[in-house]
Amino acid sequence: MTFDLRPAAPHDAFAFHAVMMAAGMDPRSSWIRTTPEDIARSLQLGGGFLAWAGEQALGCVSFRADGPHTLTLNKLATLPQARGRGIGRALVQAVEQVAEGGGYSRVLLAVSQYNPEVLPFYRRLGYQEDERAEYAFAHPGSPRPVVLVKFTPRPQETSA
Ligand SMILES: CC(C)(COP(=O)(O)OP(=O)(O)OC[C@H]1O[C@@H](n2cnc3c(N)ncnc32)[C@H](O)[C@@H]1OP(=O)(O)O)[C@@H](O)C(=O)NCCC(=O)NCCS
Repeated sequence: MTFDLRPAAPHDAFAFHAVMMAAGMDPRSSWIRTTPEDIARSLQLGGGFLAWAGEQALGCVSFRADGPHTLTLNKLATLPQARGRGIGRALVQAVEQVAEGGGYSRVLLAVSQYNPEVLPFYRRLGYQEDERAEYAFAHPGSPRPVVLVKFTPRPQETSA
C-alpha cells in the first residue's frame, strides 16, 4: 500500500477525526472524546500531517509548540488495516523534521496509561521516557501520562 504524506489543515479535521476514532483506543482515554472541532483548533494552533492513499486517509499526527525548545507530538494514529507498513514511522519523522526546521531541541509526546502497548513503538524510533518532563497539553482529569522525549540532532551532527 503506497501512501502520500500531506500537511493537514483545519478543513481536514473530519478526515483526521475518522482515523483517530478508528484507531481502537481504550474507551477510558480522553482520546475518544476528541471532536472534529478540537482537531481543527489544534491544527490551527500548531499543525499536522495526514497519510493518504488516494481519497482515503490512513494515518494522522499533529504537533504544537510548547515554548521555543519543545515541539509536542499528538494524536498519532494509523488505521488498523494499514499498520506495519511504515506509515506511523513516516508521520513521526515528519514531525521531527518540523522540529529540526523550526530550531526546536526536542520532540515530546505523552502516552496514556491506558495505552502502554505503544511504548515499544516509540522506543524503537528513539524516544526515551523522561519522568521530569511535563506534557503541557494534558487533559484535565486524566491519569498522569508517560512522557517521552527525543532530542533533535544538533546542526554539527547533520552537516558532517
Ligand atoms: C502506533 C501506531 C501509530 C503505529 O503505526 P504503524 O503504521 O503500524 O507503524 P509503522 O508501520 O511505521 O511501524 C514502525 C516500526 O515499529 C514497529 N511497531 C509498530 N507498532 C508497534 C508496537 N506497538 N510495538 C512494537 N513495535 C511496533 C513496526 O513493526 C515497525 O518495525 P520495523 O522498524 O521493523 O519496520 C499504530 O499502531 C496506532 O495507530 N496505534 C493506535 C493509536 C496509538 O496508540 N497512538 C499513539 C498515541 S500516543
